[in-house]
Amino acid sequence: MEFRTVGVLGCGLMGAGIAQVCAQSGYRTIVREVDDALVSAGLGRIEKFLAVGVKRGKLTAEDKAHALANLSGSIRFEDLAGCDIIIEAIVENVEAKRQAFTTLEPIIGRDTIFASNTSSLCITELASTTKRVDRFVGLHFFSPVPLMKLVEVIRGLTTSVETYNDVFEFAKSLGKEPVTAPDRPGFIANRLLIPYLLDAVRAHESGLGTIEDIDKTMTLGCGHPMGPFTLLDFVGLDTTYYIANIMYAEFRDPVYAPPPLLKRMVLAGRYGRKSGRGFYTY
Ligand code: 3HC
Repeated sequence: MEFRTVGVLGCGLMGAGIAQVCAQSGYRTIVREVDDALVSAGLGRIEKFLAVGVKRGKLTAEDKAHALANLSGSIRFEDLAGCDIIIEAIVENVEAKRQAFTTLEPIIGRDTIFASNTSSLCITELASTTKRVDRFVGLHFFSPVPLMKLVEVIRGLTTSVETYNDVFEFAKSLGKEPVTAPDRPGFIANRLLIPYLLDAVRAHESGLGTIEDIDKTMTLGCGHPMGPFTLLDFVGLDTTYYIANIMYAEFRDPVYAPPPLLKRMVLAGRYGRKSGRGFYTY
């Protein structure tokens, strides 16, 4: 199947990044948000990212203009009617996602593929909320989407081979490196990353070292681009807590149990960069 037009549901951090790479890769891209303010904020975020890219010499002013010409924002589901693939990047809530798919299904074409950028929800369950269980796939991007090369492509129990292969090729056409990941909480990346981040919090709580020293150890000693606490603030403590709870609920393995400090920081609204304070202050 050839994709020409891409719909993106949600223009937050992930949705904006996904819409940007689709538009930059030559796809006509329509991103849908719930109100005009969120559409403007999301498109503004993309414009700014592209402008920084031009300033850094990563793309030309012409590339930026082409990307923006491919991109439009809307609050209407109807504007996604002609999309070949719709990538969902809204709030991590099965009911909210079900509602969006149910609204879209009578509007879009029979062959349109749904892809979900969920980081932890079950792809088979999300597919089952639609009438196109075979044309439903997981497509998990990493933040910041325009810079991170990896995309996990997740085959649900009902995903057809054709859909899977088409979406895998689509991911490549975005300049990404796709990998095949199983429909299990955390897929591949978060299955390994979340226990590491949780363990860093536990280790700090038990006196292993200061936040700064643990971060310094992992960046300067192990070559990680960010230490675990910088990364927790970057991903969001609320997001990490949410994913950890889903993984713990499925596997019942204590390595996924959120440590008390993480829970309390989330309860205190210290989500990381997005709220101005997490393990560091911004
Ligand atoms: N446009 C184009 N290129 C840009 C750009 C822009 N607006 N902004 C930056 N870049 C380029 C830079 O020019 C630079 O390129 P170079 O390496 O060729 O010189 C490169 O991107 C890195 O940019 P910076 O030098 O400004 O920044 P850093 O070197 O500090 O890297 C980072 C920033 C890429 C975010 C790096 O810190 C990193 O990789 N961090 C880890 C991020 C990570 O782990 N993400 C995954 C989180 S988990 C997740 O998302 C899954 C979810 O389910 C939880």
